[in-house]
Amino acid sequence: MAAMSACTPDTAVPSPAAANAASGAVTPSVAPSSAATTDPATAAPETAAPSPSAAPSSAVAPQHSLTDPTSPWVIVNKHRPLNPQDFVPADLVQPNIRLAVSGEASLLNSTTAAAAEKLFAAAATEGVVMTLASGYRSYSTQVATYGGYVASTGQAAADHASARPGHSEHQTGWSFDIADGGGACSFQPCFAEQPAALWAKANAHKFGFVVRYPWMFHDITGYFYESWHLRYIGVEAATDMTAHGIATLEEYFGLEAAPDYL
Ligand code: DAL
Ligand code: ZN
Repeated sequence: MAAMSACTPDTAVPSPAAANAASGAVTPSVAPSSAATTDPATAAPETAAPSPSAAPSSAVAPQHSLTDPTSPWVIVNKHRPLNPQDFVPADLVQPNIRLAVSGEASLLNSTTAAAAEKLFAAAATEGVVMTLASGYRSYSTQVATYGGYVASTGQAAADHASARPGHSEHQTGWSFDIADGGGACSFQPCFAEQPAALWAKANAHKFGFVVRYPWMFHDITGYFYESWHLRYIGVEAATDMTAHGIATLEEYFGLEAAPDYL
């Protein structure tokens, strides 16, 4: 099944900064703050701001909610379901990029769509073809998607590859999966070596994206390597994360690891 055991030798060792952060040797890059939030939906404990210890003081402002699904910093993982569970983005649009899907899967929230257009265009100027392989996924679609994984692989394996309904970033509109022009290795471990994945890994942060489920961090993210799954958090945060070698959003925002459902 796709994504069950993705691995690439060149990325087998987590970056020192990320490893240090995971072990507690480095203060998380961003720490909770009650000051100057731009998001009235949440109060201090779930609103993040940069920490001087790991992030330049100029980085990542303004602050955003970690719980509001309309926030670019919302963290959705096995410990943090969407709230509400049936959330639907109000601003879904179809980006003007090469599409490998139709219907709701071709939609993203408007901010992510605009950023994706820039990312795809930049890749194209360097001769790298990308397609949108899966964008927005409603709660009901995730019921079917997750159910399909469970039916074919069993629940334990499914839980390392597909989010349970109400726990998928795809439902937020902030995430999408890429494929290459020919569909080579789509949703498979070998996609990590395809030009589209290599380009995205090296450049996505410049457009506000991170590879959300990196190699060897499933004990933190809960999922095996998905070289195709990009998540928008904004250019400043994505660039800051990359500059500090921090691999996961959980570490960047100082949140607990979420390897399994509670
Ligand atoms: N494959 C990712 C984890 C999802 O199902 O959202
Ligand atoms: Zn995905």
